[in-house]
Amino acid sequence: MALKQAKVITVTSVKGGTGKSTFTLALAGILSNKKLKTIIVDMDLHSGVIAASLNLKPKKDIYTLVNDYMNHGLKESDEYVIKYNDYIDVLPAPKDPRSVGKINSYYIDIILKKLKYRYDVILIDTNHIIDNINLITFDNSDKIIYLITNDLMDLKNMKTMLAIYKDMNLKNYYLILNEAISNERLSTYEISTFLGQNIDYKIPSNAYIKNMQKILMEGKIITLEKAYQKEKTTLILTEMLDKILK
Ligand SMILES: Nc1ncnc2c1ncn2[C@@H]1O[C@H](COP(=O)(O)OP(=O)(O)O)[C@@H](O)[C@H]1O
Ligand SMILES: [Mg+2]
Repeated sequence: MALKQAKVITVTSVKGGTGKSTFTLALAGILSNKKLKTIIVDMDLHSGVIAASLNLKPKKDIYTLVNDYMNHGLKESDEYVIKYNDYIDVLPAPKDPRSVGKINSYYIDIILKKLKYRYDVILIDTNHIIDNINLITFDNSDKIIYLITNDLMDLKNMKTMLAIYKDMNLKNYYLILNEAISNERLSTYEISTFLGQNIDYKIPSNAYIKNMQKILMEGKIITLEKAYQKEKTTLILTEMLDKILK
């Protein structure tokens, strides 16, 4: 059991397909290497990929957890998570996406608050939609990581989001530019000028992970693989995590 409350790190974006799930898994691997007890919560409720990416076959998920909670049939919360290795647990997204509509964000809030006492880090993968579930998740987060790409449509939405953060006087976010999967070539300078703020971290285009399909097929996490310990992505994400966990 963690001695202190967990740090809650949420990975999100303003558009789909920017690398959220890929980087959530990479971050989990780094935390595991640091021997920090981590739970990945798959809050991409309609189309979560975390359990499947890791070749896990969970019997329970966020929906069963919320449902048991609502019906006073809650078991130990350990029963709802599935173990990947000694340091990484997963609370999977609902197996049946049709049950998502029945999940009330009130319970998500309670569950996240309870998990804070059991882990060193809660790592949350999300979708890019601003709904009550994501808003509750953001409220519970110490750090929110926005994965952005070189795509101007994505950047325009990000600019809108940044204005909201500014209005709320919130600065608990980082911007990571994932150039490994971007096509349009705006320079980092052009992007930060457009957004009116600096990019915190940049994954360069030559950091494209060529073995992704094989890694996924085998249910592996790149940052747990020896060959990736010195890769740029690992080093950049480690630097960022060290700053967050300090
Ligand atoms: N750095 C990277 N190197 C190689 N492929 C990547 C990288 N980042 C993302 N991808 C690929 O891009 C696609 C979208 O990534 P994903 O993590 O599923 O995005 P999201 O969770 O934001 O929807 C996936 O096919 C993923 O394998
Ligand atoms: Mg995803």
